[in-house]
Amino acid sequence: MELTTEQTNQFHRDGFLLMESVFSPAEIGKMREELTLLKAMECPERILEKDGTTRSFFAPETKSKLFDSVVRQQRLVDASKRILDSDVYVHQSKLNTKRAIVGDKWDWHQDYIFWHKDDGMPEPRVINAMIYLDEMTEFNGPLYVIPGSHRDGMSEEVAEEVSLESESEWFKTYQKSQPYMSSLTANLKYTLSDESVAAWANKRGIVSGKGPVGSVLFFHGNLFHASPSNVSPWDRDTFIVSYNSIENPLKVIDNPRPEFISRRDFSPIQPLGAEALENYEVVEVG
Ligand code: SIN
Ligand code: MN
Repeated sequence: MELTTEQTNQFHRDGFLLMESVFSPAEIGKMREELTLLKAMECPERILEKDGTTRSFFAPETKSKLFDSVVRQQRLVDASKRILDSDVYVHQSKLNTKRAIVGDKWDWHQDYIFWHKDDGMPEPRVINAMIYLDEMTEFNGPLYVIPGSHRDGMSEEVAEEVSLESESEWFKTYQKSQPYMSSLTANLKYTLSDESVAAWANKRGIVSGKGPVGSVLFFHGNLFHASPSNVSPWDRDTFIVSYNSIENPLKVIDNPRPEFISRRDFSPIQPLGAEALENYEVVEVG
């Protein structure tokens, strides 16, 4: 998918770009079937909500040929290359399955601070492509973004430790079970201060990422974003692929997060055409 100069400029100005009909209903249908199979797997890639249901499934492309073909889709790779002005590789990917009624919030944050502090990513030359597996509406916990906030750079005003006092014993144990949990659950480690969110929101407003199934929201690694809990009776499943410039490889650090959260193969992605998805039959994952 070739972005026009106007679309590219819009991305750089606002820090995001919503494109509709990037994936067909048939392609999304296959992803949804595969997601159902993945969610049944007991493995570290599956991250849980406070009620024990699935919140996220990391790096599904390592377990599913279909998702491997999705992250390599020429349409995503071309757009990412245009925005980042270089070849790209996948730094991280996750299915965020925000379930009807129970799907929990994401507090205001920037993604790049996690990748910089916890993974050793030198520069914010990184974007997300959020694929809508469900329609995103005002009701089902849509992504909120603040236009232009990526221009603020990485905010240093962060809360490092979130209190677990009010949580259940099960969740306390789960949250403490791995050092990386505090960047994946609803108790996020690096959140934005209320003051910086208010300052930007009062200046530029908040945009809700509403859009039909098959849309893709591209957004910058430093864009302020959040999403409320899903109190509606409708699921809000998404697949988020984070493309990093190959000119921005991770530094060697002590205690790196596991490969399923922070990939260390920086070779440029080999793109695939739509036929890789068309020809795929959902049979088995793992
Ligand atoms: C994210 O912040 O990475 C995901 C937010 C969401 O799924 O709403
Ligand atoms: Mn995020």
